[in-house]
Amino acid sequence: MKPKSSFDRKNPKKAGTRFNRDLYRGRLATGPDPEITRFISSLKEDLRIAEADLAVNQVHSLLLQKAGILSARERRQILIGLGRARREIERMKESWPPPEIAKSFVDIHPLIESYVIKSSGLKVGGKLHLAKSRNDQVATDIRMVTRSEVLEIARELLSLLSHLLALAEKEKETVFPAFTHTQPAQITSYGHYLLAHFGALCRDLERFSDVYPRLNLLPLGAGATAGSRIRLDRNLAARCLGFDGIIDNSTDAVSSRDLFLEIGAGLLSLTVSLSRMAADFILWSAPPSRMVELPDEYADTSSAMPQKKNPDPLEMVRGKSQLILGLFTHLAATPAGLPTGYHKDFQDLKVSLFQILEESRSSLRVMNLIVPGLILHRERMAELSSQSGVAALDLAETLAQKAGLPFREAHRLVGSLVRETQKRGLELSQANPDWIPGLAALFARSGIKNLAEFLVPLQLLRNRKSLGGPSPAEVTRMVRQGKLRVHKLRKEWETRQRKVQRSRRLLDSQIRNIASR
Ligand code: ARG
Repeated sequence: MKPKSSFDRKNPKKAGTRFNRDLYRGRLATGPDPEITRFISSLKEDLRIAEADLAVNQVHSLLLQKAGILSARERRQILIGLGRARREIERMKESWPPPEIAKSFVDIHPLIESYVIKSSGLKVGGKLHLAKSRNDQVATDIRMVTRSEVLEIARELLSLLSHLLALAEKEKETVFPAFTHTQPAQITSYGHYLLAHFGALCRDLERFSDVYPRLNLLPLGAGATAGSRIRLDRNLAARCLGFDGIIDNSTDAVSSRDLFLEIGAGLLSLTVSLSRMAADFILWSAPPSRMVELPDEYADTSSAMPQKKNPDPLEMVRGKSQLILGLFTHLAATPAGLPTGYHKDFQDLKVSLFQILEESRSSLRVMNLIVPGLILHRERMAELSSQSGVAALDLAETLAQKAGLPFREAHRLVGSLVRETQKRGLELSQANPDWIPGLAALFARSGIKNLAEFLVPLQLLRNRKSLGGPSPAEVTRMVRQGKLRVHKLRKEWETRQRKVQRSRRLLDSQIRNIASR
């Protein structure tokens, strides 16, 4: 159904709302068409950047004052206007954007400007947009929102990494079957398994540490693309807004979107890491494995099959990485081939970027609940670690090490022994070396008196001493190193967080002082 509108296409000048609709339209003879307005609008998504845009305007007014464009009194009036804009947006937040606003504004920037003008008059408020553009403003806003999301993601990641280390230490003697090709492969410990995820997730966080210095640079002051006649103190703006510096070239500042790609790729990698962990838990909570179990409060059921306990949140985490890959494609494809400069094509990129940030953060939060909350069925882990010939490699290595047999030969003999036990429906620990000519003598030379006594999983685990392997001693060493790595990362991220908070507090107190004068 066509939306109702007071707009008269034949006589556009007559129709439409008058609430500052014409703020930017001096060049155009008519008001905007409502359908076109709706189509080109980012107002709905702009609620996410409103707070940042207000801060940007506050700081810009400071620069204008320093450059002698605004008097102290005028700046004060503008700050009061910005305060009013904040209150109005706050009031309308629940049903954003209200129809009367959506009719008149295509994004948050003219809305804020119009509140300032309404509050301080055109003579004062009309000066606010000198030496800036929506292009450098929106690029700055997006960086500020992304920055605070990334800081949150880092906090969540640090917490997940700490959970993994604590659990790895605790479960370093919990024998567990490691898998290759989805088949039981070798004995490991649940703790050692968790450290594999620790490694991947730690790299994910370190990747954000690499990106952060490039993220935390200020585009503001670039103008539409090629700067302004007015020389504003961009470095001061950077400091006030918690940035580490500025993006120097003004055209680069407004027309580049490679940062979105970097952030998107980092989050894609993170959600792929999470999705692989989720895939493990899904598999291992299902029969016949049942090595782990979701606490009831994290599980869902079936409407039809009364016996079901389904791992829905894990499946959602598993699926999110595909969703993010789809959104990432949008981030990568849009700027490719676009000529240099700002393009409206960019507008939807922030929607994809914010969705990626939101989806990955929620996956991370869910895994932060599930990883420490997961119920471990240790007896079942031990049981599966003594089945399916999981210890075959330990046996072959022992023959090679102790009886001086070439590994290739040991591999062949143990392979034959496994074949014989499986033919008889037995486990390796029940095998008889006499089934394979010459094997009993090699067992004797290797000090293996009784296969069942030799194949005790915990004992085998303790002997798997290779560097980075699952022996409890190695796990303890890796946990210790992991803790140092996390400690360093935590310090780094806390410093970043504090810097942003400090600049925010400084700006707030400055504004309060000026506005109360
Ligand atoms: N809403 C726009 C965006 O998100 C803001 C910048 C608009 N700039 C312009 N030249 N139309 O990208």
